[in-house]
Amino acid sequence: MSSTEEQASVFDYGTDATVARCPGRVNLIGDHTDYNNGVALPMAIDLYTEVTYSPIHGSRVIEIISDMQPDVAKVDIDIPFSTEAIREIDPSWSRAAAGIIAMIRPSDGGTLHYKGNLPIGAGLSSSAAFEVGTALALGIEGEPTSVAQHCRHAGEVATGVPAGIMDQLTVLAAKQGSAMLIDFSTLFYRYVQLPESMEVVVVHSGQSRVLSGSAYAARRAECEAAALHLGSLGEVSYDVVNALPDNTMRRRARHVVSECDRVKRFAECMVSGDLRTAGQLMVESHRSLADDFEVSTPELDSLVDELLSIDGVYGARLTGAGFGGCVVAICDPGSIDTNTFQHGAWVVRPSAGASIVLSR
Ligand code: GLA
Repeated sequence: MSSTEEQASVFDYGTDATVARCPGRVNLIGDHTDYNNGVALPMAIDLYTEVTYSPIHGSRVIEIISDMQPDVAKVDIDIPFSTEAIREIDPSWSRAAAGIIAMIRPSDGGTLHYKGNLPIGAGLSSSAAFEVGTALALGIEGEPTSVAQHCRHAGEVATGVPAGIMDQLTVLAAKQGSAMLIDFSTLFYRYVQLPESMEVVVVHSGQSRVLSGSAYAARRAECEAAALHLGSLGEVSYDVVNALPDNTMRRRARHVVSECDRVKRFAECMVSGDLRTAGQLMVESHRSLADDFEVSTPELDSLVDELLSIDGVYGARLTGAGFGGCVVAICDPGSIDTNTFQHGAWVVRPSAGASIVLSR
C-alpha cells in the first residue's frame, strides 16, 4: 500500500462512521414463553452497548474490536452465511458480529468497535444488544419485528442457541417509561406504562449465564414435545396440561401456561398501580421457574429471598433464561441499596429502543 493510500484509509476511517446505541433489557415477567407462542412483559433498560462502524473504502475485511474483550477478530466481508464458516471465527465472542456481517454483506470493510456499560452474560440481553447494534450500525432497515427476526436468526447461526425473539424485539422497539406486552403468537405488542412510584432493580447473582452451555435448548425441546400433544403451550388453557403423559412435560407445560396467565395479570397491575399483587405474581413466577421449569440456581433462589426480606420490596424473580445471571425486583424508590451487592446491582429505568446516534 502506498503512503497516499494509507493516508486515504486513515482519513476515511475518521470521517465516515455510523454509531448505533442499543439498550439491554430486563424481563419483568414471562420467561420461557416466547418460543411457546405465549406472552411476556419486558422493558429496555438504561444500560447499553454502542457500536461504531467505520468503513474503509476498498477494504474487504472488518476488524472487530471491543473495549470489553482483549482480542481482536478479523472477518472477511464475503464470509458465507453458514454455521460452519461463522463458527470458525475466533475469538468466539465476535461470532455474532460475523453472523450479522454475513447477513448484511456490507460493501466495505473497516472496523466495528464496541463499548458500553451493559454487563456481558448477565441475562440482560447483551447478546441481542450486540446483534441489533451491529445490524443497525451496518445499515439494516425495516420494521422492528422483521429486523428482530433477522438478528435472532443470525445469532442462532453464530452461536447455535435456539433462542426466542423477545430480546431482539424488546431492545429494538421499546419505549421510554413503558414495558412491552408482547404476544409471541402474532408478534403484536403494546406498551404498558409503568407506575412512576415503582423502582426496578436488577441484581447480579455472580454466576455468568452461558446459554450455549446451558439446558436452554433442552427446555425448548421439552416444550416442543409437549406442544405435539397440546398445541403451542402459550395458547392452551390450564386444564389440558394434566392430559400430558409424562411428568416432566407436565411440569414444563404447567410453567408456561401459568406464566402467561401471570403476565396478563401483572400487566393489569401496572395499569392499576397494584404493586403488592404484581410482587406476588413475580414471586409465583420465580417458584414456577425454579420448581416446574428447573432453570433457577441456589444463588438465584437466595438472592430472591434476600431481596424479598428488604422493606419496600414487592417482588423479585430470576429474569431471562435463568441458569445464573440476574434477579429483578420491584420496590418503592430507594428501598434497595445497590452498593450492598457483591456482584453488581443497578436501578434501571424503562428506556427507548435502539437508535442511530451518529451517522456521517
Ligand atoms: C433468553 C432468550 C429469550 C427468552 C429468554 C427466557 O433471554 O434469548 O428468547 O427465551 O431467555 O424467557
